Amino acid sequence: MAAISQNRIQDRAVALGIDLGQLPGHVAVIMDGNGRWAKKKGLQRLLGHREGYRTLRSVLLNASELGIKFLTVYAFSAENWRRPKDEVDGLMSLIERAAKDELRTMHQNNVRVQVAGRISEVPDGLRSALEHGIETTKDNTGITFTLAVNYGGRAEIVDAVRAIVAEGIEAERITEETIAGHLYNPSTPEPDLMIRTAGEMRWSNFLIWQSAYTELVVTEKPWPEFDEAELLQAVSIYQHRTRKFGAVVE
Ligand code: IPE
Ligand code: IPE
Ligand code: MG
Repeated sequence: MAAISQNRIQDRAVALGIDLGQLPGHVAVIMDGNGRWAKKKGLQRLLGHREGYRTLRSVLLNASELGIKFLTVYAFSAENWRRPKDEVDGLMSLIERAAKDELRTMHQNNVRVQVAGRISEVPDGLRSALEHGIETTKDNTGITFTLAVNYGGRAEIVDAVRAIVAEGIEAERITEETIAGHLYNPSTPEPDLMIRTAGEMRWSNFLIWQSAYTELVVTEKPWPEFDEAELLQAVSIYQHRTRKFGAVVE
């Protein structure tokens, strides 16, 4: 039996032909194009990131109301340190301010916050804001929101291997489950749908282990212009795909 819609965004989804009983459980987003969006408007790149933050705030709410259980977003990659210092500093303080300002609302909305990435390497203020957010929301039962900060997929695999070696697990006993079980958030399921904005057809080191069989949807819209309609369209595209996981599906 099809799930019955309970709110406005679910009504809209149903009107678009989306099956609420078959939503992607975990949606991952490469929030790209802030810089290009700003440049096109003659603005500084940091203003693009600020606008991107507004987008993220509404996408989190939309995803939660739609009924998505896990949302993971790429906020800062392990390679983004290569950017000019003022952009890196601006991004770090923007993420810190966002983590502090949004905590109350997220907690009220039953959001559980997680992070992925080498958090020990980010500025102290940001690290403690993130840790406070995780601690405050750890028992919430709504959407799990994972912020990938100083995140690299290869670094995550390196960290997993280090942890496995540190535990003294014998080589012959290491399986795919062992590696998956030592990633940053081992109880988070693999993403079903990965959305990338701003048209680039690449992973940029995001969730490379977990995305082996994830459905990728790329939209031309830069992240600051991504909205509810774009989210629903990505879900609709996802629902028209046939996932085969290597098998034959008739
Ligand atoms: C994505 O936007 C946000 C981060 C990487 C932090 P970009 O800053 O990469 O935007 P473009 O790709 O330059 O347009
Ligand atoms: C990926 O975007 C990182 C984030 C969205 C945080 P980039 O803009 O850094 O990726 P490349 O450099 O175009 O591959
Ligand atoms: Mg980019």
